[in-house]
Amino acid sequence: MSLSHRPGELVGWERFAAPSEFSESPLAQAFRQPVLLGLFLPIQAGGWSASTYPRTTDWRFDYNRDLVLKAEQLGFDLVFALSQWLPKGGYGGVFDGHALDSFMTTAALTAVTQRIVLISTIHVLYGPMHPLHLAKYAATLDHISGGRWGINVVTGHRAVEHEMFGSHRIEHDRRYELAAEFLEVVQRLWADNENWSFKGESPWKLDGAYVTPKPRFGRPVLVNATGSDAGISFAARYSDVVFITSPTGSSFDSAIASLPVHAARVKEAARDVGREVRTLLNPMVISRETEKETWDYHDAIVAHIDRDPEASFNRFDSDAHAWRGRVGRDAPKRRAIGGNIEVIGTPEQVVEQFVQLKRAGIDGLQLSFYDFQPDLEFFGDRILPLMKQAGLRF
Ligand SMILES: Cc1cc2nc3c(=O)[nH]c(=O)nc-3n(C[C@H](O)[C@H](O)[C@H](O)COP(=O)(O)O)c2cc1C
Repeated sequence: MSLSHRPGELVGWERFAAPSEFSESPLAQAFRQPVLLGLFLPIQAGGWSASTYPRTTDWRFDYNRDLVLKAEQLGFDLVFALSQWLPKGGYGGVFDGHALDSFMTTAALTAVTQRIVLISTIHVLYGPMHPLHLAKYAATLDHISGGRWGINVVTGHRAVEHEMFGSHRIEHDRRYELAAEFLEVVQRLWADNENWSFKGESPWKLDGAYVTPKPRFGRPVLVNATGSDAGISFAARYSDVVFITSPTGSSFDSAIASLPVHAARVKEAARDVGREVRTLLNPMVISRETEKETWDYHDAIVAHIDRDPEASFNRFDSDAHAWRGRVGRDAPKRRAIGGNIEVIGTPEQVVEQFVQLKRAGIDGLQLSFYDFQPDLEFFGDRILPLMKQAGLRF
């Protein structure tokens, strides 16, 4: 049988089975935890912090592989890496542009890990990439990892990245329409047991296309990050997990006030189309044994803010809605700390803030640190046991 689609029409939405619907899938197992726990790998120079205060954090593969193995040993559920395509010099200063490719890095990690779920951030509209390519690559990684791999779907909010691919940035909401069509095609290739043909309005055409092996648990894990209406509707239809950001900036107190309504809205959008999504937030955790040590560490990071005039995530034009909350007097300091929300304090204070985030409707914490290797070690020794005591982790 060959199914085809009328030209000039976007594919309609179809609900495909999610990995969480298979009780033995790694995602379903992770979802049994009271709070999902992830690590945001620093595969790009500077990680998330525009500070020159000395640290081990390194974009190289061996450093990141060791972090993943440590996270897996500690029982983390997920690791993510970001994807960026930047011209020479990157964002400047510590963000000098050195970055491993997210897809290739997490693909390589499937072979050296056993249990943790690995998420690749992939720009699906650059090139453009053909859905048959991604369907086949994904089926391969699903097979190698035993269903432990997934995609963080990104559409490209920076004009410069589209230009690097010889194109122009596509209008914000239109990007989500095209990404939706891309995912409809990819999901059909993962699900269909017959050859499939397709001709749509988009650049993608298929004639008798087929993919095997099929993903083990319906499809790989799907994630996206958004704060816009179009992005939230997209997440409702396709994602298992949605990265949300604080609509009111990264300081804990302002974020905790706005997150409950925002998180509830994202989950409701999914329920409206008969699905369920989990919300994920990415805090930067700064913690030491005592309050004094913690704030000394924080102040040292801030005191070493990168003075390179171009060292800024704002160097390139972005139309992302999700970060519009972070402006104002404190912006340079926030740039030194990084992260979508700051969780600063002793281990007890950090866990208290995590408890508040859970109450605010946050289902998962995707952690980043300033100095990844020792800070992850400290997290495992001092914070994780308290998370267990507080009922946030088994
Ligand atoms: C935690 C987080 C991680 C992200 N990682 C990437 C990334 O690696 N590459 C990228 O191009 N965009 C990344 N984004 C940007 C999103 O893809 C998206 O463009 C942004 O959230 C704006 O979406 P919106 O305009 O729908 O709110 C990330 C966003 C968040 C919140």
